[in-house]
Amino acid sequence: MQYQSEVAPRTSTDIHTLEAVALTATRRAAVASYAWVGRNDQKGADAAATAAMREALADAPGRGKVVIGEGEKDDAPMLFNGEIVGTGNGPDFDIAVDPLEGTSFCAKDLPGSLATIAFAESGTFWSPGPGFYMDKIVVGPQAKDVIDLDDPAEETLAKVAKALGKQVSELRVMIMDKPRHKELIARVVRAGAAVQTPAGGDVGGSLAVLLPALDIDLLIGVGGTPEGVMTAAAVRALGGGMLGRLAPQRTEEADNIRAAGMSLDRIYTCDELVSGDAFFVASGVNGGPLVGRPRKYKDTTITESLLISRGEIRHITHTTFE
Ligand code: FBP
Repeated sequence: MQYQSEVAPRTSTDIHTLEAVALTATRRAAVASYAWVGRNDQKGADAAATAAMREALADAPGRGKVVIGEGEKDDAPMLFNGEIVGTGNGPDFDIAVDPLEGTSFCAKDLPGSLATIAFAESGTFWSPGPGFYMDKIVVGPQAKDVIDLDDPAEETLAKVAKALGKQVSELRVMIMDKPRHKELIARVVRAGAAVQTPAGGDVGGSLAVLLPALDIDLLIGVGGTPEGVMTAAAVRALGGGMLGRLAPQRTEEADNIRAAGMSLDRIYTCDELVSGDAFFVASGVNGGPLVGRPRKYKDTTITESLLISRGEIRHITHTTFE
């Protein structure tokens, strides 16, 4: 990965250093929010994760610009869009971040919450402007060339099944269980595919598509824009396929998007959602199929993280001795 910088030359060690910073940031956010698991306090959990992440990012070499800091749509604690982090001494880079993805899972002590962040070359993350929601399709590398957000769900299933060498009846589809997806879920089931319908968490849902062992073939449906941009970083790093289109859920959101001069029809490819090299990191907050929750034994803390970068998925168990 090459990062643009006016303050320092690009070096081959930049990428390793930035990956280490991102891992430290998600690990600390995971440990901070783990203390809030099951406390029925989403804002408290989000605030703890955000503060821990902000503190860790302050040590990043260079100048990181938060292009998307999740939290605005829910009026939750967040790293602000446009916020600059880092020491200033090193490369420039873009950040898309959700310190606590799946906040309600954390508050309710249900599996699936993650501390997440993605870094990309400076100026290469798409900004959704005032758009909070987008329609998404995420598939692995084999089906990347057959998806089209304008296709009816049945056609998408048929095309993806063919690309994967499967029958539609063998497909497993991830769709968040939201009222807006009631009809979509019914159609996918009628078409013969199996659906997995978590209450939320479409970053985790997209990762399940990208991690072969989790046996999910595609994710479809409407979720958050920050989650979409972070997902695009992981998809791009692994050569998968993703399409997104702004899908406002309220009139005011639609009006704001139009007022910002953005189109509600335009379909963005993965390479438009993130147009430069990028990587993605997540640490487990409350367990689930992707990464386990932090564990403390006397003076040690063990965390589990995923680093998705340059065609590789690394599962990292980290032990900190106090
Ligand atoms: P949080 O990080 O705000 O908890 O987001 C969880 C999530 O389920 C995302 O994965 C998803 O993209 C978004 O919320 C969907 O938003 P909504 O719950 O408003 O439909």
